[in-house]
Amino acid sequence: MTTTPAVREHARSLGPEGLPAYLYDLAALRDHAAAVRAALPRRVELYYAAKANPEPEILAALSPCVDGYEVASGGELAHVARAVPGRPLAFGGPGKTPGELAGALALGVDRFHVESAHELAVLADLAARVGVRARILLRFNLAVPGGHLDGSALAMGGRPAPFGIDPADADTVLRSLTDGTHPHLEPLGVHAHLASGLDAPGLLAVAASVTAWSAGLFARHGLPLREVNTGGGMAVDYTRPGQRFDWTAYGEGLAALADRHPETVLRIEPGRALTAYCGWYATDVLDTKHSHGEDFAVLRGGTHHLRTPATKGHDQPCAVLPVDAWPHPWPRPATTGAGPVTLVGQLCTPKDVLARAVALPAPLRAGDRVLFALAGAYAWNISHHDFLMHPRPGFHFLPGPPATREPHDG
Ligand SMILES: Cc1ncc(COP(=O)(O)O)c(C=O)c1O
Repeated sequence: MTTTPAVREHARSLGPEGLPAYLYDLAALRDHAAAVRAALPRRVELYYAAKANPEPEILAALSPCVDGYEVASGGELAHVARAVPGRPLAFGGPGKTPGELAGALALGVDRFHVESAHELAVLADLAARVGVRARILLRFNLAVPGGHLDGSALAMGGRPAPFGIDPADADTVLRSLTDGTHPHLEPLGVHAHLASGLDAPGLLAVAASVTAWSAGLFARHGLPLREVNTGGGMAVDYTRPGQRFDWTAYGEGLAALADRHPETVLRIEPGRALTAYCGWYATDVLDTKHSHGEDFAVLRGGTHHLRTPATKGHDQPCAVLPVDAWPHPWPRPATTGAGPVTLVGQLCTPKDVLARAVALPAPLRAGDRVLFALAGAYAWNISHHDFLMHPRPGFHFLPGPPATREPHDG
């Protein structure tokens, strides 16, 4: 499914001055999140990694289906706490500042994902000062046998990386939590987000390996392993927008893993696989070029709004909404045929490419609309909005005008 009826209808209703625009189908998001939740065993907790898309409307739409939110900065923490008040928060990320940790303690964050022995000491000191016991998961950078992380372009663990604690230091860190060094920290378990872009069998192998390793570690130190968070990383296939991660197989595998570890709560924190499918970047064709034998369409907007194809090096999947009206007396620019067209933005850089060699059923004309799919995650919020000072897109949360706001307030 490249578009939904609500998105097509809304994209048609916008005038050129309303483009580009991000269109979010919140009904589709709710349905998808409910299906994900239903595929998971009840015992498995589902958190949403807010970094994928922290729009308040998205966070709120997910709320009935998730058990909490993972945040990765003091900014995200304050934002998510405002957008979905009272929901459990897990605070992760490398390089947390003392100020951010103090703020998180003041907000009563439910879980800290601690990334180093130093961070442990800082948090313990801050918790002692305010007289609370902070509940922590230790993030480890674990190797996973079987090469399951090798296929990921976004691996953050299992190799030299600045994320998490090296397993070689695990026993030293655990001792500091059992020998009275840090009485204001309550170790609940382990966190290990090791890679993004894995399929269900790959992620299940990672989860099994992480959980078994964690059980051994905590048992060695006489601690109950209450929780294991195996992170996000469920693949989104930008070359096949109609395909989704196999949540059913993943849920079944997690159920079997949970049965092997009945005392431990398993938790996951997907980002992109929850929200990528609910967002579209809608725009129109400003001009076309036939250059050195190839067709280009220059679109309103570009990678300063939708950076995903530039950062990931893929072609953003798209659909065309033909617009037959042409209001000018001069000829309408159009690509030369139904052959491949490269879709670019307005930026003065050859990197401003949204999709290469797109095969279209008919020539693309100035004024035609283009809807880029899978733009609901790591899209607007990772883009370099101010480069060249073009206007910001509109933001529309469907269905219904009450949830619509534009332009984005930054
Ligand atoms: C710690 C952590 N958890 C979860 C995620 C979400 O990953 P994804 O969006 O691939 O599911 C990330 C992404 O970088 C992460 O760093």
